[in-house]
Amino acid sequence: MLTADSRNEILAELAHSETNRMACIEALKIAQRENGWVSDGQLREVADLLEMTPDEVDGVATFYNLIRRRPVGRHVILLCASVSCWVMGYAILRARVKQTLGIEPGQTTADGRFTILENQCLGACDHAPVLMINDDLYRDVDPEQLGDILAKYA
Ligand code: FES
Repeated sequence: MLTADSRNEILAELAHSETNRMACIEALKIAQRENGWVSDGQLREVADLLEMTPDEVDGVATFYNLIRRRPVGRHVILLCASVSCWVMGYAILRARVKQTLGIEPGQTTADGRFTILENQCLGACDHAPVLMINDDLYRDVDPEQLGDILAKYA
């Protein structure tokens, strides 16, 4: 269920969008901020507000890879798996993240603290390897720094 604040924010987004469809991704991002992912119920509410069908909104949600349709931990680690990061040490970084948290990409730690997701380019290729935790982008990541980085997220 969307909060009143989220509904109002989505309506404000709609008010300055040329078409309802153009507001869809922003509306989904607003919904996702509540719990870190978009539930079926939230998706239906977004569809109602945008006067779109749930299938249409789900199509946008599943196409746009920063919208999550399954529950996640309190903090989401996006590991860039695109070419520049591959070349610059993605495999070592990925192995270190997995080893440190004891989970595979796509999984959430038992305490609900972290979810690891692999992602395509995070837009900082000249600073590969890159990872993102929530909205924080980490560039030129040295796997040795991983413990310090993760310690910032309770
Ligand atoms: S390839 Fe990793 S940020 Fe672009």
